[in-house]
Amino acid sequence: MTIQTIKTTPYDDQKPGTSGLRKRVTVYAQPNYVENYIQSIFDSLDGFAGETLVIGGDGRYYNDVVIQKAIRIAAANGFGRVLVGQGGLLSTPAASHVIRHHKAFGGLVLSASHNPGGPDGDFGLKYNIGNGGPAPEKITDAVFARSKVIDSYKTVDTPDIALGQIGTQHVGDMVVEVIDPVADYAALMATLFDFDAIRALFAGGFRMTFDAMNAITGPYAHVLLEDTLGAPKGTVVNGTPSPDFGGGHPDPNLVYCKDMHDLLMTADGPDFGAASDGDGDRNLIIGKNRFVTPSDSLALLAANASLAPGYAGGIAGIARSMPTSAAADRVAEKLGIEMHETPTGWKFFGNLLDAGRVTICGEESAGTGSNHVREKDGLWAVLLWLNILAVRKQSVDQIVREHWATYGRNYYTRHDYEEVDAAIAGKLVDDLRAQLPALPGKSFGEDLQVAYADDFTYLDPIDGSTSAKQGIRIGFTDGSRIVVRLSGTGTVGATLRVYLERYEAADGRHDLDTQLALEPLIALAEELSGIKKRTGREAPSVIT
Ligand code: G6P
Ligand code: ZN
Repeated sequence: MTIQTIKTTPYDDQKPGTSGLRKRVTVYAQPNYVENYIQSIFDSLDGFAGETLVIGGDGRYYNDVVIQKAIRIAAANGFGRVLVGQGGLLSTPAASHVIRHHKAFGGLVLSASHNPGGPDGDFGLKYNIGNGGPAPEKITDAVFARSKVIDSYKTVDTPDIALGQIGTQHVGDMVVEVIDPVADYAALMATLFDFDAIRALFAGGFRMTFDAMNAITGPYAHVLLEDTLGAPKGTVVNGTPSPDFGGGHPDPNLVYCKDMHDLLMTADGPDFGAASDGDGDRNLIIGKNRFVTPSDSLALLAANASLAPGYAGGIAGIARSMPTSAAADRVAEKLGIEMHETPTGWKFFGNLLDAGRVTICGEESAGTGSNHVREKDGLWAVLLWLNILAVRKQSVDQIVREHWATYGRNYYTRHDYEEVDAAIAGKLVDDLRAQLPALPGKSFGEDLQVAYADDFTYLDPIDGSTSAKQGIRIGFTDGSRIVVRLSGTGTVGATLRVYLERYEAADGRHDLDTQLALEPLIALAEELSGIKKRTGREAPSVIT
């Protein structure tokens, strides 16, 4: 095998964000952009000679080009074996499982998650470590540092790998195994859930719709829901992955899944609706006449997890990202288990999961998962919901209402202001931060008294590392909260996120309209931050 060393010049913008390096395809298509980044990743790692690397992506536009480059660069850098999903496909949670199951050194996950695809859309590359989870900041910082000074990369001159063909091929001295992207993952799911109970649920006439959004979960959902669990054909819609997601926006929220939501709100609609995003790690859960917020879903899944065989022995603890509502905290308290609050980003759960301190994790951004992999997992959440529904033999709405009657309800919403001028957004957050020391003890309106106000700093209890400036929190004596932070996943300008939460006790009112219930907090957030005034926006771009 002749290794070629190709001269290159660095780019200054290859800084990984919340979840890998996400850029427009047009940025990724610049000369050597991909090569520089992959070489920078390999240059930041030690000890992979002869080891296995997993490669796969969500099938978006440019996936096929980047996979071939990645395989060649991996061969030239001395990996012994690459496992790649057939067609270059692997959902993000499946990639995590394949890394763990086959004891790989790490993996390259090609995805920009829920961002639109196509030639004018986004692309992304993320490195995951041997535990199957996203690389910690120590590594991503090193990759960025390396990318700023890189002057060459290594590759080999070989024909393309036939990605359609399952089996073994060679690139120089390196073995490439093209694997079925679904098989290992489906086998894992069978160990966690009561498939017989879910089969009986479908056999009894339970109706579901699953929207794969023309993205990666289509093949997985067809195999699991229809072929294995007996849901009627047609349960899975938009089930064929397409490079531009059928021209859609593969983000399973109430904006992009509005039709499904509306269907679930009709009397003769299905009993259960779910969706997953571009790379299969997010989930949307809607029961008949009941949308379940991601924060509530986390709390409900944690409270009911022991109904599934994989969690029958109970769960060790729960973790949630800081902006996620405190609904899960009440479940942890009742179960007498650990509760952890981490910064936004799934990578922060990795250490807690590896140490066995927590079993279930979740984020307000539609991610839930467990210790079965080291990514959030959309279909896992759907299957756990199905398992719970099959055992409890109640509707989603009944289960949610009983939960609130037991634990109280955390009214919760997020207001996003997208593509805001980055300088204005940065200044706004700085000014808000400057107000924080004066806020504790102050009262606003009749019953909002500030209990604490800070910029969240996380101390990782496992490795002792700290992550500062993770979002501004203003907490009130009644359990209400305003959180403001800048998104780490946007690709154009800045996205400001305002998270609002109010607690209503178990015997309180649980049937208020969410936006109305949170109105005083929404107004106060504007009063303190001046988002509308400073950005000239009249309303948020997205309300979830
Ligand atoms: C991705 C990450 C999540 C994160 C979400 C929103 O999905 O995997 O961990 O919560 O993006 O992040 P952002 O920084 O845009 O709020
Ligand atoms: Zn995703």
